Amino acid sequence: MAGRGRQKATATMADLADRYDLYQQSVQCPEADIDFVLEQFHILRRRKPHILREDFCGTAYTACEWVCRDDKNRAFGVDLDLEVLDWGRQNNVKRLTKVQQGRISLMHANVMEAETPAVDVLLAMNFSYWTLLTRRRVQAYFNRVYKVLVDDGLLFLDCYGGYDAPREIKERRRLDNFTYVWHQEDFDPLTSEMKCNIHFKFPDKSRIKKAFSYKWRLWTLPEIREMLEEAGFSDIHIYWEQADEKTGEGNGEFEEVTRGSADPGWITYVVAGR
Ligand SMILES: C[S@@+](CC[C@H](N)C(=O)[O-])C[C@H]1O[C@@H](n2cnc3c(N)ncnc32)[C@H](O)[C@@H]1O
Repeated sequence: MAGRGRQKATATMADLADRYDLYQQSVQCPEADIDFVLEQFHILRRRKPHILREDFCGTAYTACEWVCRDDKNRAFGVDLDLEVLDWGRQNNVKRLTKVQQGRISLMHANVMEAETPAVDVLLAMNFSYWTLLTRRRVQAYFNRVYKVLVDDGLLFLDCYGGYDAPREIKERRRLDNFTYVWHQEDFDPLTSEMKCNIHFKFPDKSRIKKAFSYKWRLWTLPEIREMLEEAGFSDIHIYWEQADEKTGEGNGEFEEVTRGSADPGWITYVVAGR
């Protein structure tokens, strides 16, 4: 068999990629989230918040950003997936100084049961609370959040919508060395439940299909507001993402609004306090 050894397979870009790293690069911007939290907290509460809880924290990318911002800052991260928490510990928490690491606690728990000390800020980003599929579940979650916030604490959520939101479509976005694909695979108008996936494609044509998949409910702003009010929140603010004048795409700047517009796709932050 001399000279006929097995051909060494060349690893593709997909083989070498790390899906959590790709996720962080494509959908998260902790600096912008924390800038927004600090700015709005200052405007609404006239003081600096120091204790943050990140629900559905995943890799705790944002919680890590929080503890870096101020020596007094402390963060709790809650997620029920041990694999993603471990990745976050190895890749995000380990990059912090020892002192900063001492100010972050990651908890392997369901947000519906997690117990933490009272917090100034509760952050639940990237529509993660949409995995709570019924009004009863979201209501129970908002009731819990209300109780874990200090008296002048604030809840920060996000929400998206528009007439493209329930469509079964794929949207592609080119990043430096890969393409991010957001795939709304299935939508049921009877329940408003959706199946969504994130795929990644690489210049060598390799791909990671369904790197992440979600089953969630497309909640609307009035439903969210009603459930927040039911939980006891009375100070509710909606911030609408502004569009780039040339491309019409979202530009990452958010302005408070008292009414929206019938855009094909919009994103908002929702901020709620007592
Ligand atoms: C879309 S990722 C969000 C990651 C990150 N927070 C972000 O902003 O991109 C959703 C995360 O929520 C977690 N998750 C889903 N349901 C949960 C629950 N009931 N309690 C805690 N974590 C949950 C999943 O394990 C996953 O890591």
